[in-house]
Amino acid sequence: MTHDIEHARKTAGDLDHSSGFGNEHSSEAVPGALPVGRNAPQRAPLGLYAEQLSGSAFTEPRAHNRRSWLYRIRPSAAHPPFARIDNGSLRGAPFTETVPDPNRLRWNPLPEPAPGTDFLAGLWTLGGNGDATRRTGMAIHLYYANSPMTDRVFSDADGELLIVPEHGGLLIRTELGLLAARPGEVALIPRGMRFRVELLDTTARGYVCENHGRPFVLPDLGPIGANGLANARDFRAPVAAYEDIERPTQVVNKFCGNLWAATYDHSPLDVVAWHGNHVPYVYDLRRFNVIGTISYDHPDPSIFTVLTSPSETPGLAGVDFVVFAPRWLVGEDTFRPPYFHRNVMSEYMGLIEGAYDAKTAGKGGFVPGGGSLHNMMSAHGPDRETFDRASAAELKPQKIDDGLAFMFETRWPVTATAQAAGAAHLQRGYDNVWQGLERHFRP
Ligand SMILES: [Fe+2]
Repeated sequence: MTHDIEHARKTAGDLDHSSGFGNEHSSEAVPGALPVGRNAPQRAPLGLYAEQLSGSAFTEPRAHNRRSWLYRIRPSAAHPPFARIDNGSLRGAPFTETVPDPNRLRWNPLPEPAPGTDFLAGLWTLGGNGDATRRTGMAIHLYYANSPMTDRVFSDADGELLIVPEHGGLLIRTELGLLAARPGEVALIPRGMRFRVELLDTTARGYVCENHGRPFVLPDLGPIGANGLANARDFRAPVAAYEDIERPTQVVNKFCGNLWAATYDHSPLDVVAWHGNHVPYVYDLRRFNVIGTISYDHPDPSIFTVLTSPSETPGLAGVDFVVFAPRWLVGEDTFRPPYFHRNVMSEYMGLIEGAYDAKTAGKGGFVPGGGSLHNMMSAHGPDRETFDRASAAELKPQKIDDGLAFMFETRWPVTATAQAAGAAHLQRGYDNVWQGLERHFRP
C-alpha cells in the first residue's frame, strides 16, 4: 500500500458528519469562524472572506432554494483567466457524435487506465441527453482511476455529480469538508462545488450521473407515509475542514461541456466555516428501506427510487436514481424477476456487486463495472434462462441478497458518445440474451 492510500484511509476512517437531507447545516473548523446572526458582517470573523455559492436562482421558492455561505481564507474570485484544456474522455450535452440508437446496448467494464490516471483524467463519458447550457438532461460517465488528484481540484458548472463507486473507495475533499464513499455508498457533489478525489485502494472504478436539471431530491412518499425508501437522516454531509496550502493548484471547471483550467496560487479548499443547504453528501445504499409486494405482482421499479430530479411535469423525472438492493420476494402466483418491458423512459443500468435478478450472471454478461442501456421503447426484460427458471420456481419466500444493481432512468433517450458506440468493450451480440424464448402458446 502506498503512503498516499495509507494516509487517505487513516483520514477517511474517522470522519465526522452532519446528518440529514436538504436541511440547513452549519459547521466551523475553528471556533468563532462562523458569523452569528448575519451572513456578511462588515468584517467576517478571523479575517475570513464571506462568499455565497448559489445552487438555485435567488428567487426560487423556499422549498427549492439552495445556497451555502462559505467563510474562506481567500475569495474564489482571486484567480487568473481560465483557459481550455483537453477534455480527455469527457463529453458534454448536447450529444451529437452519434444518432440515438434504439438497440439494446451493453458494455463490459472500462479497460484499465494508464498509470498516473486520477479521478478527473479517468472520467469517460458513455452518453446522455439534454443540453448543459439549458440546464436540462443528464450525462452518464464512468471512471477508472489509479492515482490521487494532486494539486488540482475539479468543479462542474454543468450539474451535480452523483458518484457511484463500484470498486475501491474514495476520499473526497470538498470545499465544505471531507467525505468517504466506498462501494455500496453514493456521493453527491453539488453544482459548482470544488473537490479533489483521493483513493482508499490501489484503483477506483465506478459510475457518475451528471444531472444538468433540478437537483436531486428525495421522492415524495404518498400513501407510503412519513418514512421509507431513503430516509433523510441517513444522508451525511461533511463538517468544515480546510486546507491552508500556499502552493499552485490547478482548478479545473467543466463549463458547457468543456474543461477549463486556471492555476490558483493556493488551495481553494480553504473554507474554514460554512452554513447552508447546497452541500455534498454521502448515502449508504444498504440503508435503503426496500418496499415491495406482500401479495402479488412486482411493483414498478419506481418503488426503488433513491433520488429524483423533478422536471416541470409533475411525476416526470429528468432522471431518477434507482437501486435494486437486497430484499425478500414473497409474491404469490407472481413472475418475480423484473417483467418484460417497453418504457417511454430510457434506462441505464449498472452493477455495483454480485448479480442482478433479471440477468444470468457471469463473464460476457451483466457484470460489476459494466452497464446496459435500454433506450426509449426498446424491449427488454429477463433473459431466457431467467424466464425459464422463474416460471418454474417454487414460490416460497426468497431472499435476493447477492447483488446491488442500480439504474439511472431518464425522460429522454440517451445518445451514446462515439467512444461508447465504438468501444472495444461494447458487447457484440447482446440481443442473443433474448434468443430462444420459445413459443408456449397452446390455443
Ligand atoms: Fe425497464
